Amino acid sequence: MNKKNHQISSRKVVIGNLKMNLVNVEERERYIKNFQRELQNYFIKDAGLILCVPDVHLEHFATEFSKHSSVFLGVQNCFWENSGAYTGEISPEMVKNLGGTHVIVGHSERRRYFGESNRDISKKIYALLKANISPVLCVGEIQEERVTGMTFSVLADQLQECLEYVSAANLEKIIFVYEPVWAVGSDRIPSSNEIMEAKLIIRKLLTEKYGTKHASAATILYGGSVSPVTAKAVCVDPGMDGVLVGRESLSPIQFLKIAEIISK
Ligand code: PGA
Repeated sequence: MNKKNHQISSRKVVIGNLKMNLVNVEERERYIKNFQRELQNYFIKDAGLILCVPDVHLEHFATEFSKHSSVFLGVQNCFWENSGAYTGEISPEMVKNLGGTHVIVGHSERRRYFGESNRDISKKIYALLKANISPVLCVGEIQEERVTGMTFSVLADQLQECLEYVSAANLEKIIFVYEPVWAVGSDRIPSSNEIMEAKLIIRKLLTEKYGTKHASAATILYGGSVSPVTAKAVCVDPGMDGVLVGRESLSPIQFLKIAEIISK
């Protein structure tokens, strides 16, 4: 598989969001060594693994995993310009040139702590696609919105605005993640039926905008408190294309266990 190509041909996708962790070189090296050793111990049939690491570790991870054809690298955010006077930001070109193929956009922690709007996200998606990087777009409702029956309208608004500049031809380059905000970092998960409903809503909204052919090929994952214990209920049972894993991706063993379960 050509690792420069962001298109993952595998049936399932498992993404690790390492968040702001691996705070020194020792932790980083331990993680990489464990991951590479454990990779041989799990039977992962047909799943692409994407590790979204802190920006400062991207180049090193890309070098260390260059020979592992099933492991892709990415980061957890980026800006929409490619260079210039934007203090503190990193660009899609930088990510690409340092070995990244994927970037998470619209994560609820970015929306909540950094005020990221759907409009910002739409610009990031446009820039990423232009740089030939796959956006991993997170959408999902907060607790109050779920209990007041607003899940559909929240997903509709998020998708409508975030996909403003995306053409039908580019849809397959985006990985969608249904990530209910209340399930992130909480150990509370929706039922398999609720996840399946959300997937159907996303598919329906994409169909309205892009037509059946393109929408039916879209990759839709689940994210929020995924572990080896919950993986079957949140991914296999509702027929999702994979998962986005936060906390449990900090343990290579747990992460690879999840990948094994969902790739069966
Ligand atoms: P969690 O995080 O698995 O720790 O709930 C998921 C995420 O933030 O993407």
